[in-house]
Amino acid sequence: MSTLAAPALEDELGDVLEKAARHAALSYEKLAAAADVDLSRIQDALDYRPDLTPAELGRLAQVLHLNEVGLCALAANAYPRPELCALPFSLHPLRMPFGIGVANAYLLTQDGVTGVLFDTGASGAELRRAWPASIKKLAAVFVTHYEAEHIGGLDDIMRDFGLSHFYGPPTGRWPRCLALGESQAVEVAGFGITALLTPGHAAEHNCYMVRRRGAGGDADLLISGDLIFAGSLGGGYFCCQRQMVHARRVLEKLPDHALIAPGHGPLSTAGNERRFNPFLA
Ligand SMILES: [Fe+2]
Repeated sequence: MSTLAAPALEDELGDVLEKAARHAALSYEKLAAAADVDLSRIQDALDYRPDLTPAELGRLAQVLHLNEVGLCALAANAYPRPELCALPFSLHPLRMPFGIGVANAYLLTQDGVTGVLFDTGASGAELRRAWPASIKKLAAVFVTHYEAEHIGGLDDIMRDFGLSHFYGPPTGRWPRCLALGESQAVEVAGFGITALLTPGHAAEHNCYMVRRRGAGGDADLLISGDLIFAGSLGGGYFCCQRQMVHARRVLEKLPDHALIAPGHGPLSTAGNERRFNPFLA
């Protein structure tokens, strides 16, 4: 596997509280009353100045149905980073700036030369900058969802490598999309890739389970897009409830050691997120 230096988590305590209050359809006033926590102290956490005590975090976790251990770890800037198992193929995380944030794309290869790309970053220029020099061919592109920070480089990369189609969630908006619905599988460049239809963050959103072609058993890797992050979930902008349902069901399909490669933030494992993710444990 290539460099796995862990970047910062995508979401801090304040982001998780904000998403969880939205999931629970609670105003901050109602949350403060239900958890017996001063509203101004919740507001400070939302403004990235957290000073909540473990007891307050425990009560917030209870009201918001969050994993208390994971929430307290986030508050202490100590969210567990799992040991990452070696994969039976190479994974290149491509981290590209987008506004004030960073969006991830991922290149997989078995022979070190031919890649399969998942998402394309915010622009062709950023994608070319992040591209590993050893990858000379591109066998296929898979898209998790159609937001600018994940498909900005799509046209450029397809043109650069002469691809006429890409794989993505079903949509009427992209004529060059070969739509992959629930459990539809593709074999390409020595990989077996299975799509999971996971609307929630966006109406059109797929995750992809990846294993070596022909290998039986569990998937080694989940490209999770903006469904699951290390320590959080993507925003449920289309539907919070469906976001949560799909995050749980996708996680159930994976063994503990399976790597999770999200659209933002660091890599994690299914086991780690099962144990600690505030929304999932
Ligand atoms: Fe995103």
